[in-house]
Amino acid sequence: MKPYRPLVVLGAVCKFYSRPIRHWAESHGGRGPNFRLGPLTPPGHRLILRSPRLSDASAWRFLRLRDQQSIEPFWVSSTRPWAERHTVDAWVDDLLYMRREARAGRALSLVIEVDGRFAGQLNLDHIDRCAKNAEMGIWLDSECRNLGMATTACNLLLDYVFGTLGLRRVTAPVCVDNRLAAHSAKQFGFRREGTMVSYLDVGGQRKDHDLWAITSEMWAVRSGGGSFPSGQ
Ligand SMILES: CC(C)(COP(=O)(O)OP(=O)(O)OC[C@H]1O[C@@H](n2cnc3c(N)ncnc32)[C@H](O)[C@@H]1OP(=O)(O)O)[C@@H](O)C(=O)NCCC(=O)NCCS
Repeated sequence: MKPYRPLVVLGAVCKFYSRPIRHWAESHGGRGPNFRLGPLTPPGHRLILRSPRLSDASAWRFLRLRDQQSIEPFWVSSTRPWAERHTVDAWVDDLLYMRREARAGRALSLVIEVDGRFAGQLNLDHIDRCAKNAEMGIWLDSECRNLGMATTACNLLLDYVFGTLGLRRVTAPVCVDNRLAAHSAKQFGFRREGTMVSYLDVGGQRKDHDLWAITSEMWAVRSGGGSFPSGQ
């Protein structure tokens, strides 16, 4: 039988009762399951960014299968067929991975919610708190495109990234064939810095990617011009 250790018991009790505080602190730093940014209210809509949930599985699956044609050519290649990569189990695996990375402070994976509905994802990966750099990636429900939703979501994230997290530079590799994403990157305030030859395997082929980037200085100049009103 293990000896009775009052300090261990006390530690466990403190840990148990401090859960709400720890939960709040984690969420506040973008690391918890209840993190949320926004709302912003682009004309006629309400957009928030929030942590992904288990209950997003069916909406995620539906949109990713329906919009396969516009997403897959620019998405990281896999030997598994698209449908197999978009099962409910695949979402659960992704979710656990996203939460693990968020807890470690290496990534911030967010759902774009438009008018209360799951409408895409906006991710910040390779967060390096020492170098103060990160990389951004986005996809959006095709029915929400061309409404400025991606631009709004990006404004919200960059405000947090440069204002609260204190990062200095965010990059976005964009496949040279991805005309729409390049247009959006420009719209988001990013600048094209050059082409990275054979950078990533996307849609089944190794492709050149342009490196787009925005710095905190560029963001400060840009956000001085104002954005959509906050809905709060
Ligand atoms: C990349 C992607 C997220 C862009 O979505 P989007 O809705 O076209 O992006 P934006 O928010 O930049 O939309 C801008 C367009 O919305 C329209 N719009 C309407 N109201 C607007 C507003 N208030 N503000 C900005 N744009 C507005 C404009 O027509 C604008 O186009 P314009 O600059 O030519 O006038 C989307 O195409 C996508 O999901 N693609 C597939 C996945 C992908 O390629 N991801 C990127 C991998 S690197």
